[in-house]
Order: sequence, then structure tokens, then C-alpha cells
Amino acid sequence: MNFPDIKNCKIAVIGLGYVGLPLAIEFIREERFSNSLNQNRRIVIGFDIDSKRIEELKNGFESTNEIKKSDLYLLNKIKLTSSVNELREVNVFIVTVPTPIDKFKNPDTSALRNASKMIGEVIKGADKSNKIFPPIIIFESTVYPGATEEICIPIIEKHSNLSLNKDFFCGYSPERINPGDKLHGLREIVKVTSGSDRESTDWIDKFYGSIIDKGTHKVKSIKIAEAAKIIENTQRDLNIALINELSIICSLLNIDTLEVLEAASTKWNFLPFKPGLVGGHCIGVDPYYLTHKAQALGYHPEVILAGRKINDNMPKWIAQRVVLELVKKGHKILTSNILIMGYSFKENCPDFRNTKVNDLAIELREYGITVLVQDPLCNIEKVMQENNIKIVRDVQENQKFDCVIMAVAHKEYTNYKDEKWSSLLTARGLIFDLKGFVPRILNPIRL
Ligand SMILES: NC(=O)c1ccc[n+]([C@@H]2O[C@H](COP(=O)([O-])OP(=O)(O)OC[C@H]3O[C@@H](n4cnc5c(N)ncnc54)[C@H](O)[C@@H]3O)[C@@H](O)[C@H]2O)c1
Repeated sequence: MNFPDIKNCKIAVIGLGYVGLPLAIEFIREERFSNSLNQNRRIVIGFDIDSKRIEELKNGFESTNEIKKSDLYLLNKIKLTSSVNELREVNVFIVTVPTPIDKFKNPDTSALRNASKMIGEVIKGADKSNKIFPPIIIFESTVYPGATEEICIPIIEKHSNLSLNKDFFCGYSPERINPGDKLHGLREIVKVTSGSDRESTDWIDKFYGSIIDKGTHKVKSIKIAEAAKIIENTQRDLNIALINELSIICSLLNIDTLEVLEAASTKWNFLPFKPGLVGGHCIGVDPYYLTHKAQALGYHPEVILAGRKINDNMPKWIAQRVVLELVKKGHKILTSNILIMGYSFKENCPDFRNTKVNDLAIELREYGITVLVQDPLCNIEKVMQENNIKIVRDVQENQKFDCVIMAVAHKEYTNYKDEKWSSLLTARGLIFDLKGFVPRILNPIRL
């Protein structure tokens, strides 16, 4: 089969969020693709159904903070659009749409289905003269093993009237970036690649090889690549669940979990996980994709779901502990006030999808406590719109709290001096530190 030239093909990234935009940026980065005449002929289209996001990007505003300031100029080189018409004659589609769960914790693959239908409606198959290359559609969204072949490909075939591995090809290459992690960017993480047949697998592997400094890891099937991603996140979720459970036991034993972990970590093969809230779009969600598929196959996973239950229950456990500590210090619960520092699901990132800080605030309010949530990065209006919770950028001067909960260790908090922490507290006020972040001299209560 005749595939397009990797350096001169027309690429469309479908879904320009945390995953899609950095990918589009890497594919357009001109110095990598200049040919001998110093002409960049690779075309990158950035497509999103959210026209507001497209407008913002066109104006150079990037709300996820995933693109370095020095790279923002590359946005001008991407053809940013919400128009499906721009997707005709695209050689390579990369699908990076969301794959959340619904309120019953079942996979919600609607965005993936919609994107597949849209692609099916615009693609044309290769012609016999080989003048038109067969389109290659690569999925990057996290899914359960089998989803690309069971859901996406049949939809594309139905809406295009074309056949896989004859008129068009598919692949799956999971995205493994961590939002907010500036050390491990897209180019520094090995890319797992797969395709729908041998030739497309090789082509897709080379295609990603052209932008990933760390190299690629080619696997034999789409299902293996899908499974590799989902088990990475499931393993992380379970490791944190174990440490969360240990932290509950340590607290009942009246010993400091972090000190226990520090001591245990002196053994070479002890894994350095810490207790904490597990939210976000990946770790707290992806294991449910795997358990959904396992259950469909007649196997009821116990360990994975037990881990999910522990991690999902952490806000309730933390709220109970906070209330207990407040009572021990002589505070009246109904008149207590608490400041929660940090709202996003992880540090240095404005993403608040599925943040467990929200659950913690709700739990504490159930006790009748007044709760103020502060975050330096989250979009305040969006938080109100989506989660119906008022958060603030800053605490008013001289405002004092019976308890301060350090929930998300944004770097903005690193320059807090001891006096700043103390100034936030009432006379018998206490600090609850979920991140092991607050100086020990202030006697924070830790998870
Ligand atoms: N956020 C991460 O760090 C991360 C890391 C690894 C993998 N993933 C996976 O990557 C996928 C995307 O995650 P994300 O965090 O980038 O999501 P996101 O919500 O930040 O971005 C998705 C974008 O897709 C757009 N979109 C939705 N439906 C669309 C459609 N039918 N056509 C075109 N655009 C559409 C949305 O408007 C949004 O801008 C998910 O499957 C996620 O699990 C995410």
C-alpha cells in the first residue's frame, strides 16, 4: 500500500484539549520538518467542536497551560477550525476527544462515536492510481481494550462505505503525558504505537518517531496498545489506594504516614507512592473502563474496584478526621470555618475535572461548617458553571480560619513563609496537610 510521505502529509488533530493541542504543536514545529529546500510542507489542522476554544487559540490564549509561552507562536501555523469541511483530503486523523464515565461510572464513549462518525463522513478511500492515499485514523483517547475495533472502526466503515485495511487504515497510540508535568513532555515519553495491519503499524510508528525524542515502542495489535495504557493508570490508582488505606491505618495507630513511608522507602524496592486525593480525567476514571470490559467478559474484578472504592472514599474519611480534630481542639462545628487551599485535581494545573477537593468541600459543608475554597489557577467562572461552587483567587487580608486544609500543592504556595500560614489561623486553629507540604514546625496534621 502506498502511504503518504510523513514529512509532507496533511494531519488533523480532532479535539484540542490537554492531549490534542500539544500533539498538534509538535507536528507543526517547523524546524523538525524542513526539507532540503527549507520548506515546511506538512499541514496541521487543529479541529475542535468547541468554537470558543478555537477562537481563544486563534487569539493566542491557551487555557490549559500545557503549551510553553515560547511555543505559543506555533499556534499561528496550525489551521485552527470547527468546520468539518476543512477535514476533507486529510491524510492522517488523530483523535484526542474525551472519554469520561457517566454517573453510573460506565464508559461514556459518545465523543469517540461522534468523532468516528464525522471522520467516516469526510474520508475518501485510496484510488487505484494511488494518487489519493488511504486515510489513516489514529486514536489516542484512553479506552478499554477492544474499543477502537468494536466501536470506532465499525462506525467509520458504516458512514464512509469504505473497508478497513483496504480503503483506510487505523491505529491506536495512547497518550501518556501528565498535565502540569513540565519535565515529562510529549517528546520525552516513549510512544506506544499500533496499527490495523503490518504496513500501517510500521507507518504509524515512523510517523510518531518523527516527533518523539524518546522513541517509540511498536506493539502487535491495537488491543495491546489500548490495554497498555489502561493498565498504567490502573496500576497507579491501585498503588495510591494501598497507600491511602495504609494512611488510614497509620492515623488510627496515631503515627505519621509520611514518616512511615520515608522509613520504608530506604529499602531499594519500596515504591514511593504517597496518600492523597485521586481525581482528574485519567487515574480516577480509566480503571472503570477496564472493569467495564472485564465485566462484559464475565469476570468481576475485585482488586481494581476495591482500590477505586478506597480512593473515592478519601474525601469522606478526610472530612471525618478534620471534624474530629476540630472537636478535639474545642471548636464548635456549626460555627467553624475552613479554608481549603487548592481546588484543581492536581498541582500546577488548572484542570478541575473530577477533582476530589470538590467532594471534600461538600462533605465538610454537610457538617454545617463554613468552607472557603481558594485556587490560584482554576477558572473561577467555569468552576461555578460546572460544579456550582464558588472559589476565590485570594483570601481577604486578616481573614482567619479554624482550619486550613492544604489540598493541592500549587507552586504559588511554595513561597508561603511560616508567619503567612500562622496568620491564616484563629487562636486554636489547625492545619491539615494532605500533601506533606506545610513546614513541620507548624505542626500540621498530615494524612
Ligand atoms: N489530560 C491528560 O493529561 C491525558 C493524558 C493521557 C490521556 N488522556 C486521554 O486523552 C483523551 C483526551 O483528554 P483531554 O484531557 O485532552 O480532554 P479535553 O477535554 O482537555 O479535550 C478534549 C477536546 O475534545 C473536544 N471534543 C469533544 N468532542 C469532540 C468531537 N466529537 N470532535 C472534535 N472535538 C471534540 C472538546 O471540545 C475538548 O476541547 C481522553 O481519552 C483522556 O483520557 C488525557
